[in-house]
Amino acid sequence: MHMRSDAVVLFGVTGDLVSKKLFPALYELTRRDRLNVPVIGVARSPWDDQQLVTMARKSVLEANDEIDEETFDGLAANLSMISGDYADPTTYQRLAERLRDAERPVFYLAIPPAVFGSVVEGLAAVGLAGRGRVIVEKPFGRDLESSRELDRTLRAAFDSERVFRIDHYLGKEAVEGLYAFRFANRLFEPLWNNEHIDNIQVTLAEAFGTQGRAGFYDTVGATRDVLQNHILQVVALIAMEAPASDDTTAFREAEAAVLRQIAPLSPESTVRGQYAGYRDEPGVAADSNTETFVATRLTVDSPRWAGVPFYLRTGKSLPGTATEVVVEFKQPQRSLIPAERGTATAANLLRFRLGRGDGITMSIQAKSPGAEVASRPVDLSVDFGSALGRRQEAYERLLDDAMDGQHLRFARAETIEQEWRIVAPILDLPAPVLSYDKGTWGPADAEALAGGWHAPYLR
Ligand code: BG6
Repeated sequence: MHMRSDAVVLFGVTGDLVSKKLFPALYELTRRDRLNVPVIGVARSPWDDQQLVTMARKSVLEANDEIDEETFDGLAANLSMISGDYADPTTYQRLAERLRDAERPVFYLAIPPAVFGSVVEGLAAVGLAGRGRVIVEKPFGRDLESSRELDRTLRAAFDSERVFRIDHYLGKEAVEGLYAFRFANRLFEPLWNNEHIDNIQVTLAEAFGTQGRAGFYDTVGATRDVLQNHILQVVALIAMEAPASDDTTAFREAEAAVLRQIAPLSPESTVRGQYAGYRDEPGVAADSNTETFVATRLTVDSPRWAGVPFYLRTGKSLPGTATEVVVEFKQPQRSLIPAERGTATAANLLRFRLGRGDGITMSIQAKSPGAEVASRPVDLSVDFGSALGRRQEAYERLLDDAMDGQHLRFARAETIEQEWRIVAPILDLPAPVLSYDKGTWGPADAEALAGGWHAPYLR
């Protein structure tokens, strides 16, 4: 067992990620008696400890309907602030002084990639890197080359077993559930191949726009923001072979192995869109060609998946919010039972609902009522919230894991490099993005790409 971290340092503590995700996670860990160590916020803004506590309370209240005062007081008592420039050596000297009793601090870099280098070097210069762990947020670079460069920077200061690369989809219980579904059940795995599966669709749809992050988002776009990481992680879990054993190394190897078999995406089967009005948002370039929507087709070059297209799409300002994988099975080998009169034949579908209200819905054919021998689709559905109760939030699990030095739910350097290799041909395409109206499923061309998408169950 690795030794647990005895301090948490949040770089970029005044930012969006910390208030939306990390404070609620720290609160939850405190509630579960998993966190009673100093939590030090670092940022350029001149905040004092009280401002940090006020922000923490606000974010816990935004994430939860109510707050347990005793738990919050426990967290607040551990919070303190260091304000300083990331390029200023005294920032790190003050941090080292504050951490003099900590043997294994964990450093969370919730900061723009442009300042990763200064922070890592600053930590190394005061001897903190040698005894700490580092958690790095996505986006991990902007492309293959910059992600390798970033990795070199990190590895110059931290040994590889001290580097934790976040893709919070790996921390979601529902996403991890894909792995459990496949390898804890006998029922579907024999069908999990090109003999029985026609196509697979992955949708990560969001009803909202850039939510005040337009300045950042405009430098990134949908492909770098979620396709390169979250969606490809989901694809890896759906498509991977069974790991050679149940340990972390075997799991991560199986994940990297399937990514190696994915061909680079092609611009010809990719549709990029931008919602109308995006360019008027503060922080967005007036002539921005950044995509807020992308749909594409991917192939996995393996005996299991040859000939099975994977259709992927994600976008902002779509008709609803949902993350779903729909596995569409082939039709029965021999068609004896027609679809109900006036309806089209429907395929069996296995729908993994991975977002809020997660669960699985399976569409099967049932005999339609009446004298006619025909069938119509009906759903078998399980809602995991009702069946399993509360599940932990991704960031709560990931912080807990990193504090324990556990890598299972973090991405390997190679995994991230493979993801960049896959998306490389569709990054920064010169062709103008296609406009779409807010509240629609992106440009019309995207609809044609999959020859009909299965509409997600929207929330
Ligand atoms: C983040 C992206 O990584 O993932 C956001 O930067 C996106 O743009 C978010 O909204 C989606 O995550 P979730 O957990 O809300 O599905």
